[in-house]
Amino acid sequence: VGTRAALATWFEPRRSLYPWRGERDPYRVLVSEVMLQQTQAGRVVPAYRSFLERFPDVAALAAASRADVLRAWAGLGYNRRALALWRAAGEVVRTHGGPLPAEPAVLQGLPGIGPYTAAAVASIAFGRPLPALDTNVRRVVARTRLGSEAHEVSTGRVLQAAGSWLDRADPGGWNQAVMDLGREVCRPAPRCDACPLARWCRYRLAGRRPSSPPRHRPSDPFEGSTRQARGRVVAGLRTRRSGTLASVAVGAGLSLDRAAEVVRVLVADGLVAAGPAALAGRANGRVRLP
Ligand code: ADE
Repeated sequence: VGTRAALATWFEPRRSLYPWRGERDPYRVLVSEVMLQQTQAGRVVPAYRSFLERFPDVAALAAASRADVLRAWAGLGYNRRALALWRAAGEVVRTHGGPLPAEPAVLQGLPGIGPYTAAAVASIAFGRPLPALDTNVRRVVARTRLGSEAHEVSTGRVLQAAGSWLDRADPGGWNQAVMDLGREVCRPAPRCDACPLARWCRYRLAGRRPSSPPRHRPSDPFEGSTRQARGRVVAGLRTRRSGTLASVAVGAGLSLDRAAEVVRVLVADGLVAAGPAALAGRANGRVRLP
């Protein structure tokens, strides 16, 4: 109907905007979706290209060492996602014997793959008619179809509204179009004058406007966080075979105690290997990528 055609027309120039657009290979779609989960598209582009050059298919990724995968993940952050992707590749090769499964329920059983990623891969790579509900898509669907903000309605209602709105002729394109719309136009503070759906939007037709979002964050919550410290420790180890706890601490700008604490968490997550001395917090203890 009107909204689907209007959205498809708006999406047309965006169909070839990124290297993963138009991609149907399920492994490549999975790699792009995992990378895009928390990293901006512009920063994903070079990492996506080099990662696929290094690990062109699921078998190549499954056969790689954890250290190689973590090195190829440089620039993306959230290193645990890289390990989950690597584990997923291993499971696919071992239990499914090759290509990625098309069944969303089976995809969701793989490490690091939740409902969003399963629906994204199933719709984009396999044409399954499933809405991929990330934060942006929830907001667009809640506003345009239900006249509400996403937090005012249940996930079930959003899912149902998205499922009946979805373009069954092109579920993957539809999902990516709604994602783009949510990121570029139907933002928390929406740009309705640029919206292809404005004349059908129930939120707008009801005369609603979002209550103004906070103007700025008083401080960056990432600064000084454990996630930042973890990222710096892994980043420091990418370039060399191994280091002492002291050199890791200096490289990451952490105290020896804090570095030891972070290393213990990274070891528990399988992101770093460390000898007993390093785990005990001794300066000359050895630390490396696994
Ligand atoms: N965010 C996550 N995956 C995306 C995709 N395929 N297109 C646009 N935005 C996304």
